[in-house]
Amino acid sequence: ANFCVILAGGRGRRLWPYSREKKPKQFIDFFGTGRTLIQTTFDRFAKIMPKENIYVCTNVEFRDTIDEQLSDIPESNIISEPVSRNTAPSVAWASTLIYQRNPKANIIITPSDLFVLNEESFDDNVAKGFEFVAGHDIVLTMGVKPTRPEPGYGYIQAGAPSDMENVYTVKSFTEKPEREFAKMFVESNEFYWNTGLFLANARHLGRVLRKLFPEQMELLTDSKPDFTLTDSKDFIDNRFSSFPNLSIDYGILERTDNVHVMLCDFGWADLGTWHSMYECMRRSDDDNVVIDSDVILEDCRNNVIKLDKGKLAVINGLNGYIVTEKDNVLFICKKSDSSALVRKYVNEVQIK
Ligand code: GDD
Ligand code: MG
Repeated sequence: ANFCVILAGGRGRRLWPYSREKKPKQFIDFFGTGRTLIQTTFDRFAKIMPKENIYVCTNVEFRDTIDEQLSDIPESNIISEPVSRNTAPSVAWASTLIYQRNPKANIIITPSDLFVLNEESFDDNVAKGFEFVAGHDIVLTMGVKPTRPEPGYGYIQAGAPSDMENVYTVKSFTEKPEREFAKMFVESNEFYWNTGLFLANARHLGRVLRKLFPEQMELLTDSKPDFTLTDSKDFIDNRFSSFPNLSIDYGILERTDNVHVMLCDFGWADLGTWHSMYECMRRSDDDNVVIDSDVILEDCRNNVIKLDKGKLAVINGLNGYIVTEKDNVLFICKKSDSSALVRKYVNEVQIK
């Protein structure tokens, strides 16, 4: 049977001030579709597997928000992390639970900050991915062709072809390289962007995790087979917090042999930064990206604009900026170096 784990414990800091510490981007209806990013992610998988097979990992702080936004999934499928340890421990916890429920499970892990343009092609790739990992003890990443030397992503170097079309072995995995390396990677034509989606059969994933985190996995698999949320206090003290703070990318993909990549083309985009929003959204004739906001623009080019509902912005003569406001913060910033500046200001102004 096929299972899905949605990762939704991030803080979305790079989309500050629209995304806030207490209400990060995954819980926002960013595009005015009527569904938040996590709901859209859930919908994507709910049409290809039973809802009971969809798990969500998040920080305990967001538990109520998830209950509210994803009322369709069983309570026991919501994994509330007592402390933030990034995504490798989340995967360990969720995949252990799933394995206990069904040792023959195949699992796909998905971020909640991705955009998919072509859902049909996505479904097709996911179906093939499940088929591949059901028959192979490997970790299968999903890669897409890079279009710019973006240092904020993981880079997957494809190796030899496998016995399935579009699936290759992975020669190397490099998470968030320096810009100059990213440039070399893109120019070489051998590298793909890591979409953050990956698959494995639960048995193999367990094996990989036990190799990387032997003591912590021991603690985990000692736990009751029906390990549920009522144990979370115990978990805080003894188990979950014993994991190192590591992302899947640094903690698992960079350190594991036998990773494969499926080359995908489903119109992937990352919803991580203002810059990536600009890259993936439809632009007006003047190259402005207005995300579900009321604006009157005159003589403006090349801007990203995202406002609170009910606000109107009238802007004249602006070129190459991000204009966004939420609650008590208005943020106007040159688009070209926004990512570094967002980080700086989030820390500086102390309004999270
Ligand atoms: N449960 C849980 N706990 N989820 C978390 C945590 C955590 O502590 N931290 C982050 N997440 C979730 C986020 O909500 C997001 O859905 C996902 O994990 C990925 O985290 P990001 O913080 O968005 O990672 P990233 O964007 O820097 O990098 C990843 O995504 C890129 C593509 O968008 C990597 O996988 C890169 O290799 C990849 O290219
Ligand atoms: Mg991200």
